[in-house]
Amino acid sequence: MRVLGIESSCDETGVALYCLQDGLLAHRLHSQIALHAAYGGVVPELASRDHIQRLLPLVREVLADAGLTRSDLDGVAYTAGPGLVGALMVGAAAGRALAWALDIPAVGVHHLEAHLLAPLLEGGPLTTPFVALLVSGGHSMLIEVTELGSYRLLGDTLDDAAGEAFDKTAKLLGLPYPGGAALAALATHGQATHSFSRPLTDRPGLDFSFSGLKTQVALAVQRQQPLDDAARANVARSFEDAVTETLAIKCRRAMQQTGAGLLVVAGGVGANRHLRERLAADADSGGWQLRFPRPDFCTDNGAMVALAGALRLAAGGRQDLAIDVRPRWDLSELAPMHFAHPPAFACAA
Ligand code: KG4
Ligand code: ZN
Repeated sequence: MRVLGIESSCDETGVALYCLQDGLLAHRLHSQIALHAAYGGVVPELASRDHIQRLLPLVREVLADAGLTRSDLDGVAYTAGPGLVGALMVGAAAGRALAWALDIPAVGVHHLEAHLLAPLLEGGPLTTPFVALLVSGGHSMLIEVTELGSYRLLGDTLDDAAGEAFDKTAKLLGLPYPGGAALAALATHGQATHSFSRPLTDRPGLDFSFSGLKTQVALAVQRQQPLDDAARANVARSFEDAVTETLAIKCRRAMQQTGAGLLVVAGGVGANRHLRERLAADADSGGWQLRFPRPDFCTDNGAMVALAGALRLAAGGRQDLAIDVRPRWDLSELAPMHFAHPPAFACAA
């Protein structure tokens, strides 16, 4: 089954082709970072308009890359939420219309389900039950996955998401939007000279709170004005250490609480090298498996949507002719995936 996947929930237009038998056939991504950089954040109306311009050329390119034509498609998957409503509408309208014209099924995909299944793009099946840490620009969540499609929220952010905290801290350090990766690069030149707090780690529970950390950074920056390059790198390193350690402490707690044997890390912040190293060391000492998507499939992309959509279609998921998007959508509302023929690459219990 060959499925075209479309991602347009925020500021990346991603298109990919995924085949249940042969894996990822092609993928392309257009990032709107340059478009929004001057505004210091995503401008929703500009995002929607750019998705309109980029989407169909990307679909043509992906088909050409795979040496296929539209008539070779067996299904279309698009991100139906959560995300920016206008941006979602572009992908949903194009995807639904294409499927209707080709007389093939369409399915609306949950963006976070796509993120947490992204490790399946490479490597073997995900053994359930597992715990997923989802850390992106909009979310910081710990989720228990009892079977594919069945998600229980263990912890959530009370304020800023981890990626948002990276981006806001980067801005305080004068780095261009979106600063997460730039901050991480700067941190490699610094020392952890500031003892920023590890929020909510001193009490039970699996929720996160990162907005106080950003305030601590703002105060540290104010106190040290003018900030030279070495001092900026030290603040970046101290901040990255604080976020990494906080996430690691909560992951360890979630693994102990659930007794799961696998931790999956996904979302843009999952591309952070320091976090990956720290979680790998913890997995070694804690005796659990660890899976990440490769770094460019941690951030938003069409490949993860095509893969999640292919699985949803294989499990009988279908979108009717309505073009529905859900800017807010709770992951726990999804139905478990039950397969007539479970794809061996995806599930192992
Ligand atoms: O998953 P994603 O592409 O989009 C959302 O669904 O939000 O995540 C984007 C977020 C941004 O906040 C970005 O700064 C952050 O992921 N990010 C990073 C790194 N690469 C991307 N944060 C820390 N270290 C990185 N290497
Ligand atoms: Zn995302």
